Amino acid sequence: PTVVYRLPDGTAHSVDVPAGQTVMDGSVRNNLPGIVAECGGSCSCATCHVYVEDESAAAFGEPSMEEQDLLEFLDGARSCSRLACQLVLNAEMEPITVTVAQSNG
Ligand code: FES
Repeated sequence: PTVVYRLPDGTAHSVDVPAGQTVMDGSVRNNLPGIVAECGGSCSCATCHVYVEDESAAAFGEPSMEEQDLLEFLDGARSCSRLACQLVLNAEMEPITVTVAQSNG
C-alpha cells in the first residue's frame, strides 16, 4: 500500500511499502527523516512516534498494552499517537497517511 508521511518540516512523501512491512520500515528503507527507530522495531524506544489520521487509524488494530505503556509517557502524545513499528501494512489497505511526530529526536 501507499503510505504518505507528513514530516515535521511540512513536506509530505508518498512511498509504496510492501505488505507485511511496517510504517516504520517504509520510512527507514526510503531514508526519510523523522522516524529514528533506535530499537529497530521491538516496541521499546518510542522514537518511531507518529500520529495516524482517523481514516487510516481504523485500518490498524488497537495498540498492544506494551505500545500503550510507551505512548503514555511520550512528549506530545495525542489520542491518535501510535508507534510506527507496530503498524503492519497489508495488501488490502487504502492509502495510509501518518504525521511524523517532532519529538523523535
Ligand atoms: Fe523502537 Fe518503534 S522502532 S519503538
